[in-house]
Amino acid sequence: MVRGRGFLSEAIDLNVASVPRMYDYFLGGKDHYPADREACRRLLDQAPQTQLLARAQRQFRLRAVRALALTHGIDQFVEFGCGLPSWENTHTAARRARPTSKFVYVDRDPMVVAHGRALLEEAGTAVVHGDLTEAPGILRHPDITGLVDLTKPVAVLAVSLLHTLPDKAGGRRTMARLIDALPVGSFLVASQLTSHEPELASRIDAVMHEVTGGQWGNVGSAPEAGTFFHGLKLLKPGVTDVSLWRPDDLQGRPVPGPLHEVGGIGQKTG
Ligand SMILES: C[S@@+](CC[C@H](N)C(=O)[O-])C[C@H]1O[C@@H](n2cnc3c(N)ncnc32)[C@H](O)[C@@H]1O
Repeated sequence: MVRGRGFLSEAIDLNVASVPRMYDYFLGGKDHYPADREACRRLLDQAPQTQLLARAQRQFRLRAVRALALTHGIDQFVEFGCGLPSWENTHTAARRARPTSKFVYVDRDPMVVAHGRALLEEAGTAVVHGDLTEAPGILRHPDITGLVDLTKPVAVLAVSLLHTLPDKAGGRRTMARLIDALPVGSFLVASQLTSHEPELASRIDAVMHEVTGGQWGNVGSAPEAGTFFHGLKLLKPGVTDVSLWRPDDLQGRPVPGPLHEVGGIGQKTG
């Protein structure tokens, strides 16, 4: 269900950690509370590299948007699971490359939507309260169709989001429905947290389920991340550790350790 512009009455429980506020803490933001910081501490106990991964993945989404705007002429973007506003937001990166870019941010978290509407909305941008699992309906919502022309290619982002989907098969169906709803020529930018150590992945899942009250899915594996792009033509270098996806310094180094954010960009060609 897409919630209209007036709908934000959902209770925000500051005693339960939220993924966007934890992420904000890792990125050095100011919109987090004791429960979020305690949750981050527990996550760091399991995986000390998590903070560096949050930063690496934020840089990936900025590089991806820049590449799509500069090299592929994309000037309309819909970002699912956008998170709280941060030091550099995606529409700013897109507009630096293409000043007339239209940008819609979508998130299921009411605090993200409230902060986004206060800080990100300006001419050519909108912030919508909605869930990736209902993407086709959301794309038809007037808040989006008023800005984005879905008869032309669009870039859709779902960065560091796939591991929050409740189950893997359901996640693949969600992504397939989203891709179906896009016009030919459109792009999907997506990534997820992965590990080659199943026991570590299980421990992280257990902590995240507990601290967020179930707002979490599963840490995946690198091959699973590739399946979310089914039917799309991958842009080089394919689905990879995001630090290696066209790094700015041409060398790019993965964050060391057993956890990786893996993702890429695929194009719908037919
Ligand atoms: C780790 S943050 C990533 C933020 C941003 N995509 C980035 O890469 O910097 C994940 C965000 O996705 C949102 N989210 C999680 N599951 C979602 C879903 N099914 N639909 C929409 N938003 C979702 C969370 O509320 C959170 O803001």
